[in-house]
Amino acid sequence: MNDFHYKALPLDVYFGNGKSKGVKEILTQHGYQRVLVLTTPEQEGAGQKLAEQLESISAGVYPHAVMHVPVEVANKAVEYVQANNIDCCLALGGGSTIGLAKAIALKTHTPIVAIPTTYAGSEMTTVYGLTENNLKTTGKSIHVLPKVVIYDPELSVTLPADISACSGMNAMAHAVEALYAQDKNPIISLMAVDSIRALNVALPAIVQNPQDLEARQNATYGAWLAGICLGSVGMAIHHKICHTLGGTFNLPHAQAHAITLAYSVHYNRNADIEAMDLLAGALGVASREEIGLAIYRLNQSLNIPLALKDIGLPEHGPEKVAQIICDSPYYNPRGYDYDELRDLLSKAYQGLPPV
Ligand SMILES: NC(=O)c1ccc[n+]([C@@H]2O[C@H](COP(=O)([O-])OP(=O)(O)OC[C@H]3O[C@@H](n4cnc5c(N)ncnc54)[C@H](O)[C@@H]3O)[C@@H](O)[C@H]2O)c1
Repeated sequence: MNDFHYKALPLDVYFGNGKSKGVKEILTQHGYQRVLVLTTPEQEGAGQKLAEQLESISAGVYPHAVMHVPVEVANKAVEYVQANNIDCCLALGGGSTIGLAKAIALKTHTPIVAIPTTYAGSEMTTVYGLTENNLKTTGKSIHVLPKVVIYDPELSVTLPADISACSGMNAMAHAVEALYAQDKNPIISLMAVDSIRALNVALPAIVQNPQDLEARQNATYGAWLAGICLGSVGMAIHHKICHTLGGTFNLPHAQAHAITLAYSVHYNRNADIEAMDLLAGALGVASREEIGLAIYRLNQSLNIPLALKDIGLPEHGPEKVAQIICDSPYYNPRGYDYDELRDLLSKAYQGLPPV
């Protein structure tokens, strides 16, 4: 076995149905006394209920989180937190809400407690993102890593089937790329395999019945592991493609991940044999050649849109994306081949199988 260096994430994690009901006790144990609940406008009602549970330590709800954390939204939230002497932000929601908590923490070092209600995984990373003039920049800081994460699968039951499916595939993408990361290690690979297995089984069950609590529990478990993968090792070509689709063409984050994953893994199918054999095993397919198609079919069964053109990519998109990623590549176990990538992205544009 090789030598490894691995930085474990320093945070408390709670997992279980109904766990969020104990949030006041957890916050009090940490000594927080003025807790602001952050949500999107859509989840304000759920935020109010949570704030009521906090009784005397509640400083109310701030329901202004939006996708991709625009700088103006972040600045207003920072002012609000400072003016109201908030000593903890309790983020209830997905990557957008946790993203706002991170932007506040970056400026003010206000600790974050996160209750994730999607499968995006931001709660497990030191990565933050901010958008200014349509340009999204990301960075890393230990100050934005939550102090506590509470996974309560019951809270995800209200996440609509279509968002659940894409968000779950977004999680799977983190686990998949962790398998062939530049700094991959056996501990994270174990988590990645179990994450992929859990999501592969749970997501079709959720789409059939969003109220299926056992499936919600398995998907939350898969997303938890995927979040650890994302927060612990580097990502590769798939995340580069999705960053470009989001940044340059403003495509929706989770859908772009879901659609493109099949093509990214097909491109890498023979690049890191050990990783791809693990991936084939986790997906239950017999060979590396079938991995891309298996993910494409999984998307099909989850009723996820199959074509990038259907989520807003213009016709010149495949060429442009291939060019951008080849001009500024980040690590991938295989080099960036412009022609092959343009052809695969053209298939993704049309929603054709990745073969
Ligand atoms: N920094 C990181 O490490 C990291 C990781 C992953 C994603 N992200 C970022 O997160 C954002 C995407 O996050 P997301 O995919 O979780 O989507 P999201 O947070 O935007 O949520 C999508 C929608 O679903 C609603 N919603 C969430 N949970 C719900 C529930 N249980 N019931 C009903 N409605 C619910 C939200 O209010 C929102 O309207 C992107 O900006 C992405 O860049 C960051």
